[in-house]
Amino acid sequence: NKGKYEHYMQKEIHEQPESLTTSMRGRLIRGGSSKKKSVLLGGLKDHLKTIRRSRRIVFIGCGTSYNAALAARPILEELSDIPVMMEIASDLLDRQAPVYRDDTIIFVSQSGETADTLNALEYARENGALCVGITNTVGSAIARNTHCGVHINAGSEIGVASTKAYTSQIVVLAMVALAIGADTVSTKQRREGIIESLLNLPGKIREVLKLDEQMKDLARSLISEQSLVMFGRGYNYATALEGALKVKEVALMHSEGILAGEMKHGLLALVDENLPIVVITTRDQCFSKQQSVIQQLKAKRSTDSYVYRRRCSNLPLQLLAYHLTVLRGYNVDQPRNLAKSVTTE
Ligand code: UD1
Ligand code: M6R
Repeated sequence: NKGKYEHYMQKEIHEQPESLTTSMRGRLIRGGSSKKKSVLLGGLKDHLKTIRRSRRIVFIGCGTSYNAALAARPILEELSDIPVMMEIASDLLDRQAPVYRDDTIIFVSQSGETADTLNALEYARENGALCVGITNTVGSAIARNTHCGVHINAGSEIGVASTKAYTSQIVVLAMVALAIGADTVSTKQRREGIIESLLNLPGKIREVLKLDEQMKDLARSLISEQSLVMFGRGYNYATALEGALKVKEVALMHSEGILAGEMKHGLLALVDENLPIVVITTRDQCFSKQQSVIQQLKAKRSTDSYVYRRRCSNLPLQLLAYHLTVLRGYNVDQPRNLAKSVTTE
C-alpha cells in the first residue's frame, strides 16, 4: 500500500524517520537510573567476546548493502580497534580469498537471499570463520545460516532501489560497532556522543526531507545529461558510491561515485565545462580537503552543483535519483533488467 505516495521508492524514502526509529527500538538505551547510555543487541550479545578476539573483521555484501558496510567501516575501525576489510561477495569467491578461523565475517543483505552473498557465506563457514548476518528479512537464508546476527527491522522494502534499508543497515552497523567496542572510561564520552546522535537522527532526517523541492529542481537541471559524477571521501565515500548507484539503477543515467582523493589520478581528465559534478561535504575531518577539491574543480569550469548532507544520511541523493527518474519518465519501482532479490550468480 503506497498510501499518499505515487511510488514505493518515494514512500520508502519518506518513511525513514520511522524505519530508523524501529531499527533502534529497544536497542539503544538513553538514561535510566544511572543516566548511562548503552547499546543492547540481543542477536550478538553471546558472541561479543569471540568477535573482540578476532584477528580481523570482514564485511561482505553486494550493491547497496556493500555500500552500507563501507559507510560503517570507519566507525567500526575506530570503536573496535580491529582491522576491518571490505569484500564484494562475488569477488571474494572469484579469488577464493583466504578466510581464517579467527575472522569475523559480517554478511550484509537486505533480502537475506542474494546468491553471491549466500555463496560467500557457505565458503566462509567451510573455512571456519564466525559468520554474522545483518539482514532485514527474518527467516531468510542469511538469517538462518549465519551463527548470529542482527535484524535491521526497517519494515518491508518494495522498491527495487534500496533506500530505507540502506540507512537502517548503517545505523545497525553503527550499533554493532558500539557493541563490539570497549565501554571504558576513556571511550565513554565518544560513545555517548554517537548514541545521542543516533537517537537524534530521525529528527534530523525529517529536516533533510524538506529538501525534496530543492532536489527536484536539481533533478530538473540534470534531466538531459549523459553522465553525473559524485565525489566523496571519509564517511562520504560510501555516500558517493551509493548516490551514483541509485542514479544508474533507477534514473538510467551513467553515474560514477569517486573517492575524492583519487580525483587527480584519472577522473580530472574528464572535467570540463559540461560534466555535471556533485561534491559531498559535511563538517567532519575531511571538510577542508573537500573544500580544496571544490576549488580545484572550480578552476576548471564556471558552473557547479553542490549537495550538503549530514553524517549517516544520503537522503538528498535518494531524493535526487527519485525525481530524476520520474522526470525522465522511467519506471521508479521496477527498473529495467533488475530484480529486488538477485537469487542467481
Ligand atoms: C528478538 C526478537 C524480537 C523481540 C526481541 C525481544 C526475532 C526475530 N526477534 O530481537 O521480536 O522483540 O528479541 O528481546 O524473534 N540472527 C542471525 N542472523 C541474522 C540475523 C539474526 O543468526 O542475520 C539471529 C540472532 O543472533 C538472534 C535472532 O536471530 O538469535 C534474532 O535476532 P534479532 O531480531 O536481531 O534479535 P533481537 O533484537 O534480540
Ligand atoms: O538484498 P541484498 O541487500 O543482498 O541486495 C544486494 C543488491 O542486489 C542490492 O542492494 C542492489 O544493489 C539494489 N537494487 C540497490 O538499490
